[in-house]
Amino acid sequence: MFRKYEKVFAKDYENWYKESTEYRKQTEKDPRRLHFHLMPRTGWMNDPNGLCQLNGVYHIFYQYTPFEPTGELKLWGHFTTRDFIHYEDDGPVLYPDSELDAHGAYSGSAYVEDGTMYVFYTGNLKYFDREDYDYINSGRGSNTIQVVSRDGHHFSRKKLLMTTADYPADMSCHVRDPKVFRRGARYYMVLGARDRESRGLVLLYESDDLEHWTFKSRIMTEEKFGYMWECPDLFEIDGQMFLTCCPQGVAQQGVDYANVHQCVWMKLDCNFAADQYRIRQIHQLDRGTDFYAPQTFQDEQGRRILIGWMGIPDADYTNPTTEAGWQHALTLPRELTVRDGKLIQQPIAELRQLRCEPVVCGSFDQDGCAECVSEAKPQVYEASVTFDRCQSMRMELRDGVTLYYQDHMLTLDPGDRGAGRTARSVRLECLEDLQIFADTSSVEIFVNHGEEVFTSRIYSMEGGISIQGICEGKMVIYPLKSFNVEDIWNDEE
Ligand code: FRU
Repeated sequence: MFRKYEKVFAKDYENWYKESTEYRKQTEKDPRRLHFHLMPRTGWMNDPNGLCQLNGVYHIFYQYTPFEPTGELKLWGHFTTRDFIHYEDDGPVLYPDSELDAHGAYSGSAYVEDGTMYVFYTGNLKYFDREDYDYINSGRGSNTIQVVSRDGHHFSRKKLLMTTADYPADMSCHVRDPKVFRRGARYYMVLGARDRESRGLVLLYESDDLEHWTFKSRIMTEEKFGYMWECPDLFEIDGQMFLTCCPQGVAQQGVDYANVHQCVWMKLDCNFAADQYRIRQIHQLDRGTDFYAPQTFQDEQGRRILIGWMGIPDADYTNPTTEAGWQHALTLPRELTVRDGKLIQQPIAELRQLRCEPVVCGSFDQDGCAECVSEAKPQVYEASVTFDRCQSMRMELRDGVTLYYQDHMLTLDPGDRGAGRTARSVRLECLEDLQIFADTSSVEIFVNHGEEVFTSRIYSMEGGISIQGICEGKMVIYPLKSFNVEDIWNDEE
Protein backbone atom coordinates (compact mmCIF):
# COMPACT_ATOMS: atom_id res chain seq x y z
CA MET A 1 0.00 0.00 0.00
CA PHE A 2 1.08 3.58 -0.48
CA ARG A 3 2.39 5.64 2.33
CA LYS A 4 0.84 9.01 2.90
CA TYR A 5 3.64 11.29 1.80
CA GLU A 6 5.58 9.24 -0.67
CA LYS A 7 5.79 9.88 -4.38
CA VAL A 8 3.66 7.71 -6.64
CA PHE A 9 5.03 6.59 -10.01
CA ALA A 10 3.09 5.24 -12.97
CA LYS A 11 4.69 1.84 -12.41
CA ASP A 12 3.43 1.77 -8.80
CA TYR A 13 -0.09 2.37 -9.99
CA GLU A 14 0.15 -0.31 -12.68
CA ASN A 15 1.28 -2.85 -10.11
CA TRP A 16 -1.38 -1.81 -7.66
CA TYR A 17 -4.06 -1.97 -10.36
CA LYS A 18 -3.16 -5.59 -11.15
CA GLU A 19 -3.56 -6.52 -7.52
CA SER A 20 -6.81 -4.63 -6.95
CA THR A 21 -9.40 -6.66 -8.85
CA GLU A 22 -11.22 -7.48 -5.60
CA TYR A 23 -11.32 -3.83 -4.63
CA ARG A 24 -12.92 -2.92 -7.97
CA LYS A 25 -15.47 -5.70 -7.59
CA GLN A 26 -16.33 -4.43 -4.14
CA THR A 27 -17.04 -0.85 -5.27
CA GLU A 28 -18.96 -2.07 -8.32
CA LYS A 29 -21.44 -3.90 -6.12
CA ASP A 30 -22.41 -0.77 -4.20
CA PRO A 31 -26.04 0.13 -5.06
CA ARG A 32 -25.20 3.80 -4.45
CA ARG A 33 -22.88 3.86 -7.49
CA LEU A 34 -24.18 6.65 -9.71
CA HIS A 35 -25.72 5.99 -13.11
CA PHE A 36 -25.17 9.26 -14.92
CA HIS A 37 -22.33 10.96 -13.10
CA LEU A 38 -18.58 10.48 -13.30
CA MET A 39 -17.08 8.95 -10.17
CA PRO A 40 -13.84 7.20 -9.22
CA ARG A 41 -13.78 3.51 -9.94
CA THR A 42 -12.15 3.07 -6.54
CA GLY A 43 -11.02 5.57 -3.95
CA TRP A 44 -11.52 9.30 -3.88
CA MET A 45 -12.29 12.09 -6.37
CA ASN A 46 -12.36 15.85 -5.92
CA ASP A 47 -12.01 18.88 -8.22
CA PRO A 48 -12.51 18.65 -11.98
CA ASN A 49 -9.25 19.74 -13.67
CA GLY A 50 -8.01 20.60 -17.14
CA LEU A 51 -11.45 20.73 -18.78
CA CYS A 52 -11.14 21.27 -22.51
CA GLN A 53 -12.07 20.02 -25.96
CA LEU A 54 -9.30 18.98 -28.33
CA ASN A 55 -10.02 17.75 -31.87
CA GLY A 56 -13.63 16.98 -30.98
CA VAL A 57 -12.79 15.06 -27.81
CA TYR A 58 -13.76 16.42 -24.41
CA HIS A 59 -11.14 15.90 -21.71
CA ILE A 60 -12.21 15.77 -18.09
CA PHE A 61 -9.34 15.41 -15.63
CA TYR A 62 -9.90 15.30 -11.89
CA GLN A 63 -8.19 15.10 -8.51
CA TYR A 64 -7.85 11.42 -7.78
CA THR A 65 -6.66 9.09 -5.03
CA PRO A 66 -7.40 5.63 -6.44
CA PHE A 67 -6.00 3.73 -3.48
CA GLU A 68 -8.45 4.61 -0.73
CA PRO A 69 -11.66 6.61 -0.32
CA THR A 70 -10.57 9.36 2.05
CA GLY A 71 -8.35 11.32 -0.32
CA GLU A 72 -4.68 11.46 0.53
CA LEU A 73 -2.03 11.94 -2.13
CA LYS A 74 -3.53 13.49 -5.28
CA LEU A 75 -3.02 12.26 -8.83
CA TRP A 76 -4.79 13.48 -11.95
CA GLY A 77 -7.35 11.02 -13.31
CA HIS A 78 -8.72 11.37 -16.83
CA PHE A 79 -12.01 10.72 -18.64
CA THR A 80 -12.69 11.44 -22.29
CA THR A 81 -15.97 11.69 -24.19
CA ARG A 82 -17.29 12.94 -27.51
CA ASP A 83 -20.95 13.19 -26.51
CA PHE A 84 -21.13 13.40 -22.68
CA ILE A 85 -22.91 10.00 -22.68
CA HIS A 86 -20.16 7.53 -23.66
CA TYR A 87 -16.92 7.90 -21.73
CA GLU A 88 -13.52 6.31 -21.52
CA ASP A 89 -11.96 6.02 -18.10
CA ASP A 90 -8.26 6.48 -18.69
CA GLY A 91 -7.21 6.12 -15.03
CA PRO A 92 -4.40 8.35 -13.68
CA VAL A 93 -2.29 10.32 -16.16
CA LEU A 94 -0.33 12.72 -13.93
CA TYR A 95 1.46 11.45 -10.87
CA PRO A 96 3.08 13.19 -7.89
CA ASP A 97 6.36 11.62 -8.94
CA SER A 98 8.89 14.48 -8.94
CA GLU A 99 10.56 16.92 -6.59
CA LEU A 100 8.19 19.56 -7.98
CA ASP A 101 4.93 17.91 -6.91
CA ALA A 102 5.89 15.16 -4.47
CA HIS A 103 2.98 15.79 -2.09
CA GLY A 104 0.23 16.11 -4.63
CA ALA A 105 -0.44 17.01 -8.25
CA TYR A 106 -3.03 19.58 -7.24
CA SER A 107 -5.71 21.33 -9.29
CA GLY A 108 -5.21 23.17 -12.53
CA SER A 109 -6.48 23.84 -16.01
CA ALA A 110 -5.86 23.19 -19.69
CA TYR A 111 -5.50 25.71 -22.48
CA VAL A 112 -5.79 24.45 -26.07
CA GLU A 113 -4.11 26.08 -29.06
CA ASP A 114 -3.15 24.64 -32.46
CA GLY A 115 -4.00 21.08 -31.52
CA THR A 116 -1.90 21.19 -28.35
CA MET A 117 -3.08 21.00 -24.78
CA TYR A 118 -1.09 23.15 -22.35
CA VAL A 119 -1.78 21.98 -18.82
CA PHE A 120 -1.03 24.11 -15.76
CA TYR A 121 -1.30 22.77 -12.23
CA THR A 122 -0.03 23.18 -8.70
CA GLY A 123 2.71 20.94 -7.40
CA ASN A 124 2.10 20.71 -3.69
CA LEU A 125 5.03 20.31 -1.31
CA LYS A 126 5.03 19.90 2.44
CA TYR A 127 8.27 20.51 4.31
CA PHE A 128 8.16 17.97 7.09
CA ASP A 129 11.68 18.58 8.28
CA ARG A 130 10.93 22.01 9.73
CA GLU A 131 9.96 22.61 13.33
CA ASP A 132 8.07 25.82 12.72
CA TYR A 133 5.73 24.92 9.90
CA ASP A 134 2.07 25.80 10.24
CA TYR A 135 1.23 25.09 6.59
CA ILE A 136 -0.09 28.63 6.25
CA ASN A 137 2.86 30.99 6.36
CA SER A 138 5.58 28.38 6.39
CA GLY A 139 6.19 24.73 5.67
CA ARG A 140 4.47 24.49 2.36
CA GLY A 141 5.43 25.05 -1.25
CA SER A 142 3.17 25.65 -4.26
CA ASN A 143 4.81 25.25 -7.63
CA THR A 144 3.07 26.31 -10.81
CA ILE A 145 3.92 23.60 -13.33
CA GLN A 146 3.30 23.23 -17.05
CA VAL A 147 3.02 20.01 -19.03
CA VAL A 148 2.09 19.74 -22.69
CA SER A 149 0.13 17.01 -24.44
CA ARG A 150 -1.39 16.23 -27.82
CA ASP A 151 -3.79 13.54 -26.60
CA GLY A 152 -4.43 14.16 -22.89
CA HIS A 153 -2.79 10.85 -22.15
CA HIS A 154 0.91 11.36 -22.77
CA PHE A 155 2.56 14.42 -21.29
CA SER A 156 5.86 16.22 -21.78
CA ARG A 157 8.41 16.71 -19.03
CA LYS A 158 7.18 18.80 -16.08
CA LYS A 159 8.32 22.39 -16.44
CA LEU A 160 8.51 24.63 -13.36
CA LEU A 161 7.03 28.05 -14.15
CA MET A 162 6.75 29.64 -10.73
CA THR A 163 7.51 28.74 -7.18
CA THR A 164 6.42 30.12 -3.80
CA ALA A 165 9.24 32.69 -3.84
CA ASP A 166 7.89 34.11 -7.12
CA TYR A 167 4.49 35.09 -5.76
CA PRO A 168 4.06 38.54 -4.14
CA ALA A 169 5.92 38.77 -0.82
CA ASP A 170 2.80 39.31 1.24
CA MET A 171 1.26 35.99 0.19
CA SER A 172 1.00 33.06 2.58
CA CYS A 173 2.05 29.62 1.29
CA HIS A 174 -1.46 29.12 -0.04
CA VAL A 175 -1.32 30.03 -3.72
CA ARG A 176 -2.70 27.45 -6.15
CA ASP A 177 -5.07 26.23 -8.87
CA PRO A 178 -3.89 28.06 -12.04
CA LYS A 179 -6.52 28.72 -14.68
CA VAL A 180 -5.19 30.01 -18.01
CA PHE A 181 -7.03 31.86 -20.78
CA ARG A 182 -6.33 34.14 -23.69
CA ARG A 183 -7.55 37.66 -24.42
CA GLY A 184 -6.40 39.17 -27.68
CA ALA A 185 -2.73 38.41 -28.19
CA ARG A 186 -1.92 37.77 -24.52
CA TYR A 187 -2.31 34.92 -22.11
CA TYR A 188 -3.51 35.32 -18.55
CA MET A 189 -3.44 33.12 -15.48
CA VAL A 190 -5.50 33.43 -12.33
CA LEU A 191 -4.31 31.79 -9.12
CA GLY A 192 -6.27 31.39 -5.88
CA ALA A 193 -4.50 32.87 -2.86
CA ARG A 194 -4.45 33.71 0.83
CA ASP A 195 -2.34 36.65 1.90
CA ARG A 196 -0.39 36.87 5.15
CA GLU A 197 -3.28 38.73 6.75
CA SER A 198 -5.55 35.84 5.83
CA ARG A 199 -7.54 37.57 3.14
CA GLY A 200 -8.72 35.56 0.19
CA LEU A 201 -7.93 36.94 -3.28
CA VAL A 202 -6.97 36.14 -6.84
CA LEU A 203 -3.54 36.80 -8.36
CA LEU A 204 -3.52 37.69 -12.05
CA TYR A 205 -0.48 36.96 -14.23
CA GLU A 206 0.19 37.60 -17.90
CA SER A 207 2.40 36.01 -20.53
CA ASP A 208 3.27 36.16 -24.22
CA ASP A 209 4.36 32.55 -24.57
CA LEU A 210 2.54 30.51 -21.89
CA GLU A 211 5.90 29.93 -20.22
CA HIS A 212 7.18 33.21 -18.80
CA TRP A 213 4.64 34.78 -16.49
CA THR A 214 4.64 38.29 -15.04
CA PHE A 215 2.56 39.37 -12.09
CA LYS A 216 -0.08 41.84 -13.18
CA SER A 217 -2.63 42.48 -10.48
CA ARG A 218 -4.79 41.30 -7.59
CA ILE A 219 -8.50 40.82 -7.78
CA MET A 220 -10.16 41.16 -4.40
CA THR A 221 -13.15 42.60 -2.59
CA GLU A 222 -12.91 45.87 -0.70
CA GLU A 223 -14.05 44.20 2.51
CA LYS A 224 -12.49 40.87 3.42
CA PHE A 225 -14.53 37.98 2.03
CA GLY A 226 -13.03 34.83 3.53
CA TYR A 227 -9.39 33.90 4.22
CA MET A 228 -8.63 31.88 1.08
CA TRP A 229 -10.09 31.74 -2.43
CA GLU A 230 -9.61 28.36 -4.09
CA CYS A 231 -10.08 27.36 -7.72
CA PRO A 232 -10.62 30.73 -9.46
CA ASP A 233 -11.87 30.98 -13.02
CA LEU A 234 -12.23 34.21 -14.99
CA PHE A 235 -14.28 34.25 -18.18
CA GLU A 236 -16.49 36.38 -20.37
CA ILE A 237 -20.06 35.71 -21.48
CA ASP A 238 -21.92 38.19 -23.67
CA GLY A 239 -19.36 40.90 -22.96
CA GLN A 240 -19.66 40.49 -19.19
CA MET A 241 -16.71 39.23 -17.11
CA PHE A 242 -17.38 36.72 -14.37
CA LEU A 243 -15.09 35.32 -11.72
CA THR A 244 -16.02 32.05 -10.06
CA CYS A 245 -14.08 30.96 -6.98
CA CYS A 246 -14.39 29.15 -3.66
CA PRO A 247 -13.93 31.45 -0.66
CA GLN A 248 -13.19 29.73 2.64
CA GLY A 249 -14.09 31.27 5.97
CA VAL A 250 -17.20 33.26 5.01
CA ALA A 251 -19.83 33.37 7.77
CA GLN A 252 -23.39 32.26 7.08
CA GLN A 253 -25.81 35.11 6.32
CA GLY A 254 -29.44 34.03 6.67
CA VAL A 255 -29.95 31.15 4.23
CA ASP A 256 -26.86 32.15 2.26
CA TYR A 257 -23.39 30.63 2.69
CA ALA A 258 -24.72 27.75 4.78
CA ASN A 259 -21.93 25.32 3.83
CA VAL A 260 -18.54 25.13 5.50
CA HIS A 261 -16.86 26.59 2.39
CA GLN A 262 -18.48 28.64 -0.35
CA CYS A 263 -18.60 28.77 -4.08
CA VAL A 264 -19.64 32.02 -5.74
CA TRP A 265 -19.83 33.86 -9.01
CA MET A 266 -18.76 37.48 -9.05
CA LYS A 267 -19.62 40.04 -11.68
CA LEU A 268 -16.61 42.11 -12.59
CA ASP A 269 -15.78 45.33 -14.37
CA CYS A 270 -12.43 44.56 -15.97
CA ASN A 271 -10.15 46.84 -17.88
CA PHE A 272 -7.08 44.77 -18.70
CA ALA A 273 -5.33 47.68 -20.46
CA ALA A 274 -5.72 49.99 -17.46
CA ASP A 275 -5.25 47.06 -15.09
CA GLN A 276 -8.48 47.73 -13.22
CA TYR A 277 -10.74 45.04 -11.83
CA ARG A 278 -13.77 45.84 -9.73
CA ILE A 279 -16.06 43.25 -8.19
CA ARG A 280 -19.62 44.53 -8.47
CA GLN A 281 -21.79 41.65 -7.33
CA ILE A 282 -21.37 38.33 -5.51
CA HIS A 283 -23.85 35.49 -5.79
CA GLN A 284 -23.82 31.96 -4.43
CA LEU A 285 -23.24 29.53 -7.30
CA ASP A 286 -25.11 26.54 -5.92
CA ARG A 287 -27.53 26.08 -3.04
CA GLY A 288 -26.96 22.43 -2.19
CA THR A 289 -24.75 20.73 0.35
CA ASP A 290 -22.30 19.17 -2.12
CA PHE A 291 -20.84 21.56 -4.62
CA TYR A 292 -17.33 22.95 -4.85
CA ALA A 293 -14.34 23.74 -7.08
CA PRO A 294 -16.17 24.18 -10.40
CA GLN A 295 -14.25 24.87 -13.58
CA THR A 296 -15.48 26.17 -16.93
CA PHE A 297 -14.23 25.91 -20.50
CA GLN A 298 -15.41 26.93 -23.92
CA ASP A 299 -16.07 24.03 -26.25
CA GLU A 300 -15.65 23.92 -30.04
CA GLN A 301 -19.29 24.98 -30.48
CA GLY A 302 -18.60 28.07 -28.37
CA ARG A 303 -20.57 26.91 -25.34
CA ARG A 304 -19.24 27.83 -21.89
CA ILE A 305 -19.57 24.58 -19.92
CA LEU A 306 -19.15 24.21 -16.16
CA ILE A 307 -18.46 21.03 -14.21
CA GLY A 308 -18.12 21.03 -10.43
CA TRP A 309 -17.07 18.62 -7.75
CA MET A 310 -20.16 17.03 -6.21
CA GLY A 311 -18.58 17.17 -2.79
CA ILE A 312 -17.06 19.69 -0.43
CA PRO A 313 -13.96 19.67 1.80
CA ASP A 314 -14.15 19.77 5.62
CA ALA A 315 -17.92 19.13 5.89
CA ASP A 316 -19.27 17.58 9.07
CA TYR A 317 -21.56 15.27 7.07
CA THR A 318 -20.38 12.07 5.45
CA ASN A 319 -20.81 9.77 2.46
CA PRO A 320 -21.71 6.18 3.36
CA THR A 321 -20.16 5.09 0.04
CA THR A 322 -16.82 5.33 1.86
CA GLU A 323 -17.66 1.97 3.47
CA ALA A 324 -17.80 0.51 -0.03
CA GLY A 325 -14.39 1.98 -0.89
CA TRP A 326 -15.21 5.06 -2.93
CA GLN A 327 -16.26 8.66 -2.40
CA HIS A 328 -17.52 11.66 -4.40
CA ALA A 329 -18.39 12.40 -8.02
CA LEU A 330 -18.52 15.23 -10.52
CA THR A 331 -21.68 17.23 -11.23
CA LEU A 332 -23.53 17.11 -14.50
CA PRO A 333 -22.02 19.42 -17.11
CA ARG A 334 -23.94 22.72 -17.18
CA GLU A 335 -24.07 25.28 -19.92
CA LEU A 336 -23.59 28.83 -18.70
CA THR A 337 -25.43 31.80 -20.16
CA VAL A 338 -26.42 35.25 -18.96
CA ARG A 339 -30.04 36.26 -18.43
CA ASP A 340 -31.04 39.63 -16.93
CA GLY A 341 -27.47 40.11 -15.82
CA LYS A 342 -27.42 36.83 -13.88
CA LEU A 343 -25.24 33.81 -14.50
CA ILE A 344 -27.56 30.97 -15.54
CA GLN A 345 -26.69 27.26 -15.34
CA GLN A 346 -28.59 24.66 -17.35
CA PRO A 347 -27.87 20.98 -17.95
CA ILE A 348 -26.22 20.57 -21.36
CA ALA A 349 -28.57 19.49 -24.16
CA GLU A 350 -26.78 16.14 -24.67
CA LEU A 351 -28.29 14.87 -21.42
CA ARG A 352 -31.72 14.65 -23.07
CA GLN A 353 -30.44 11.51 -24.78
CA LEU A 354 -30.63 9.79 -21.41
CA ARG A 355 -34.43 10.13 -21.26
CA CYS A 356 -36.66 7.04 -21.51
CA GLU A 357 -40.39 7.22 -22.20
CA PRO A 358 -42.02 9.30 -19.46
CA VAL A 359 -43.75 7.36 -16.67
CA VAL A 360 -45.78 10.37 -15.64
CA CYS A 361 -47.02 13.21 -17.74
CA GLY A 362 -49.82 15.01 -16.01
CA SER A 363 -51.13 18.28 -14.75
CA PHE A 364 -51.94 19.23 -11.20
CA ASP A 365 -54.24 21.94 -9.89
CA GLN A 366 -54.70 23.90 -6.73
CA ASP A 367 -56.84 21.26 -5.02
CA GLY A 368 -53.71 19.35 -4.38
CA CYS A 369 -51.99 16.53 -6.13
CA ALA A 370 -53.72 15.53 -9.35
CA GLU A 371 -52.31 12.06 -9.82
CA CYS A 372 -48.75 13.12 -10.02
CA VAL A 373 -47.59 10.18 -8.02
CA SER A 374 -45.56 7.85 -10.12
CA GLU A 375 -46.53 4.17 -9.92
CA ALA A 376 -43.25 3.14 -11.46
CA LYS A 377 -41.17 4.89 -8.77
CA PRO A 378 -38.05 5.29 -10.84
CA GLN A 379 -34.95 5.68 -8.75
CA VAL A 380 -32.97 7.39 -11.47
CA TYR A 381 -35.01 10.07 -13.16
CA GLU A 382 -35.44 13.56 -14.50
CA ALA A 383 -38.57 15.38 -13.35
CA SER A 384 -39.62 18.49 -15.14
CA VAL A 385 -42.19 20.61 -13.31
CA THR A 386 -43.67 23.71 -14.90
CA PHE A 387 -45.88 25.94 -12.80
CA ASP A 388 -48.62 28.17 -14.19
CA ARG A 389 -49.01 29.45 -10.67
CA CYS A 390 -47.40 28.52 -7.38
CA GLN A 391 -48.14 29.95 -3.99
CA SER A 392 -46.82 26.97 -2.12
CA MET A 393 -45.95 23.38 -2.92
CA ARG A 394 -44.39 20.29 -1.46
CA MET A 395 -42.69 17.58 -3.47
CA GLU A 396 -41.46 14.24 -2.32
CA LEU A 397 -38.41 13.26 -4.37
CA ARG A 398 -37.81 9.93 -2.55
CA ASP A 399 -38.70 8.53 0.86
CA GLY A 400 -37.82 11.21 3.38
CA VAL A 401 -36.44 13.76 0.90
CA THR A 402 -38.62 16.81 0.28
CA LEU A 403 -38.48 19.98 -1.72
CA TYR A 404 -40.93 22.64 -0.63
CA TYR A 405 -41.81 26.22 -1.45
CA GLN A 406 -43.43 28.54 1.01
CA ASP A 407 -43.29 32.29 1.64
CA HIS A 408 -40.94 32.73 -1.33
CA MET A 409 -38.46 30.25 0.12
CA LEU A 410 -37.52 27.07 -1.73
CA THR A 411 -36.05 24.42 0.57
CA LEU A 412 -34.44 21.05 -0.04
CA ASP A 413 -34.71 18.94 3.08
CA PRO A 414 -32.93 15.56 3.13
CA GLY A 415 -34.69 14.65 6.42
CA ASP A 416 -32.68 11.88 8.03
CA ARG A 417 -31.47 10.60 4.64
CA GLY A 418 -28.63 13.06 4.25
CA ALA A 419 -25.92 11.32 6.33
CA GLY A 420 -25.74 14.44 8.50
CA ARG A 421 -26.78 16.98 5.88
CA THR A 422 -29.41 19.54 6.85
CA ALA A 423 -31.91 21.60 4.84
CA ARG A 424 -30.75 24.31 2.41
CA SER A 425 -32.90 27.15 1.07
CA VAL A 426 -32.99 29.96 -1.42
CA ARG A 427 -35.27 33.00 -1.62
CA LEU A 428 -37.17 33.40 -4.88
CA GLU A 429 -39.50 36.07 -6.24
CA CYS A 430 -41.63 33.28 -7.65
CA LEU A 431 -41.34 29.62 -8.54
CA GLU A 432 -41.89 28.95 -12.23
CA ASP A 433 -39.98 25.86 -13.13
CA LEU A 434 -38.00 22.93 -11.72
CA GLN A 435 -35.79 20.45 -13.52
CA ILE A 436 -34.76 17.71 -11.14
CA PHE A 437 -32.07 15.12 -11.87
CA ALA A 438 -32.15 12.30 -9.36
CA ASP A 439 -29.44 9.67 -9.49
CA THR A 440 -29.13 6.74 -7.04
CA SER A 441 -27.47 8.89 -4.36
CA SER A 442 -27.54 12.46 -5.64
CA VAL A 443 -29.92 15.16 -6.70
CA GLU A 444 -29.41 18.27 -8.83
CA ILE A 445 -32.28 20.72 -9.01
CA PHE A 446 -32.31 23.51 -11.59
CA VAL A 447 -34.71 26.25 -10.51
CA ASN A 448 -36.45 28.78 -12.78
CA HIS A 449 -34.58 27.73 -15.92
CA GLY A 450 -31.21 27.66 -14.20
CA GLU A 451 -31.33 30.81 -12.08
CA GLU A 452 -30.49 28.74 -9.00
CA VAL A 453 -29.25 25.17 -8.58
CA PHE A 454 -29.17 22.76 -5.63
CA THR A 455 -26.58 19.96 -5.77
CA SER A 456 -26.68 17.44 -2.94
CA ARG A 457 -25.87 13.83 -2.13
CA ILE A 458 -28.82 11.96 -0.60
CA TYR A 459 -28.95 8.46 0.77
CA SER A 460 -32.50 7.32 0.23
CA MET A 461 -33.03 4.80 -2.55
CA GLU A 462 -36.74 4.07 -2.30
CA GLY A 463 -40.00 5.87 -2.69
CA GLY A 464 -42.13 7.65 -5.22
CA ILE A 465 -42.36 11.17 -6.53
CA SER A 466 -45.33 13.36 -5.73
CA ILE A 467 -46.32 17.00 -5.71
CA GLN A 468 -49.05 18.86 -3.90
CA GLY A 469 -49.82 22.39 -2.79
CA ILE A 470 -51.55 25.59 -3.79
CA CYS A 471 -50.27 25.47 -7.30
CA GLU A 472 -51.13 24.65 -10.88
CA GLY A 473 -48.90 23.17 -13.50
CA LYS A 474 -47.57 20.13 -15.22
CA MET A 475 -45.11 17.40 -14.29
CA VAL A 476 -43.26 15.01 -16.58
CA ILE A 477 -41.02 12.26 -15.22
CA TYR A 478 -38.50 10.49 -17.39
CA PRO A 479 -36.58 7.49 -16.07
CA LEU A 480 -32.99 7.99 -17.19
CA LYS A 481 -30.51 5.67 -18.86
CA SER A 482 -26.97 5.35 -17.57
CA PHE A 483 -23.73 6.74 -18.86
CA ASN A 484 -21.58 4.22 -20.62
CA VAL A 485 -18.11 4.29 -19.07
CA GLU A 486 -15.42 2.04 -20.45
CA ASP A 487 -12.35 1.41 -18.37
CA ILE A 488 -9.46 1.31 -20.79
CA TRP A 489 -7.30 -0.48 -18.22
CA ASN A 490 -9.77 -3.31 -18.03
CA ASP A 491 -8.13 -6.43 -19.38
CA GLU A 492 -8.55 -9.09 -16.73
CA GLU A 493 -12.17 -8.59 -15.66
C1 FRU B 1 -10.08 22.39 -3.77
C2 FRU B 1 -8.62 22.04 -3.51
C3 FRU B 1 -7.69 22.87 -4.37
C4 FRU B 1 -6.46 22.01 -4.43
C5 FRU B 1 -7.07 20.62 -4.52
C6 FRU B 1 -6.27 19.54 -3.87
O1 FRU B 1 -10.94 21.35 -3.41
O2 FRU B 1 -8.30 22.20 -2.14
O3 FRU B 1 -7.44 24.17 -3.88
O4 FRU B 1 -5.67 22.31 -5.53
O5 FRU B 1 -8.33 20.72 -3.88
O6 FRU B 1 -6.86 18.29 -4.10
